[in-house]
Amino acid sequence: MKTAIITGSGGLIGSEAVSFFAKHFDYIIGIDNNLRSYFFGDTASTHWNVERLQDRYPNYRHYDADIRDAEALEKIFKKYNSDIALIVHTAAQPSHDWAAREPRTDFSVNAYGTLNMLELTRLYCPKAVFIFTSTNKVYGDNPNLLPLVEQQTRWEIEEQHPYYKEGIDERMSIDFCKHSVFGASKVAADIMVQEYGRYFEMNTAVFRGGCLTGPNHSGAQLHGFLAYLMKCAINKEHYNVFGYKGKQVRDNIHSYDLVNMFWHFYKHPRKGEVYNAGGGRFSNCSMIEAIEMCEEITGNKIDYSYLDNNRIGDHIWYISDVSKFKTHYPNWNYTKNIHQTLSEMFFSFTTREAEVV
Ligand SMILES: NC(=O)c1ccc[n+]([C@@H]2O[C@H](COP(=O)([O-])OP(=O)(O)OC[C@H]3O[C@@H](n4cnc5c(N)ncnc54)[C@H](O)[C@@H]3O)[C@@H](O)[C@H]2O)c1
Repeated sequence: MKTAIITGSGGLIGSEAVSFFAKHFDYIIGIDNNLRSYFFGDTASTHWNVERLQDRYPNYRHYDADIRDAEALEKIFKKYNSDIALIVHTAAQPSHDWAAREPRTDFSVNAYGTLNMLELTRLYCPKAVFIFTSTNKVYGDNPNLLPLVEQQTRWEIEEQHPYYKEGIDERMSIDFCKHSVFGASKVAADIMVQEYGRYFEMNTAVFRGGCLTGPNHSGAQLHGFLAYLMKCAINKEHYNVFGYKGKQVRDNIHSYDLVNMFWHFYKHPRKGEVYNAGGGRFSNCSMIEAIEMCEEITGNKIDYSYLDNNRIGDHIWYISDVSKFKTHYPNWNYTKNIHQTLSEMFFSFTTREAEVV
């Protein structure tokens, strides 16, 4: 029975992966203990999403286990054993602001939890494909050293710079910079995933996400900015913009497009690969531009304040260059740009009101 394990299955990327892979596998094993509500409060709970998956996919089995609990995980790996053909590991403490509150919790979830998943994969199903959702924060604040120019609504890189056309590629250094505590715990996990590919010759891949987004994000002030902004626009709640004149640029990839990357990798895996994975030049916006788009889509004026202090280590301009992935997997492409994603969110949030409040 071909089986996929998806950690963080109640979260944005995990739940998209369940929906995507349910038709390709006999069993989908979801692991999520709703730690997101501990990180960000009840409004960020992912419980609703797990219930939705259980209702919708009869081959979905949920385990309320903690990825830090090696014994609990081992029972799952022992049960499904070599039937496990794919692991999509998305469970994480995902916020760099939150990480500074409890560095031990952050590191144990992001680094140690990932090591648990890798080691059990090596012991029980070493031929499986192991996909890890890393982050562009592994590059720390190095992107802030790029030559940027200020435009009316955004920061932009100088046109002569090699990153202008496609964005930042995987060769950017992860050294000599401030990562934030979160960035550091993700670096540890990112390197381990690469190492299990290179040293143990397993089929592992690291996807360094820009902003990952989509209608199934349980957006909170500290994580999931587009979903949270859209919620504020719909519910007429206050929003804070932190620093850089609100012109900081993020590239935003829809969760479907990212999981579709995983599918392409799964079909033709490689060992210890690293890919930047964001919306690239295809889908990106500044904070101000995102506010304008949400106002246009909802018809509501957003009540926001501007605070001078930027978040520590926050990127001023980040656009992912996904051309390495496109070269390895030429049949993959984006399907949803930022406007489509925001419109989808608006529709989803307004027809799923219980989750918005
Ligand atoms: N969303 C983004 O913008 C973004 C950007 C770059 C990288 N990433 C990375 O992508 C991955 C997925 O992000 P997301 O936005 O889907 O996050 P998410 O918070 O929506 O989902 C993560 C899920 O993992 C669960 N979880 C957390 N700790 C756990 C633990 N110890 N045991 C079991 N379950 C646990 C949470 O309850 C949550 O449901 C994360 O690794 C994150 O660091 C996200």
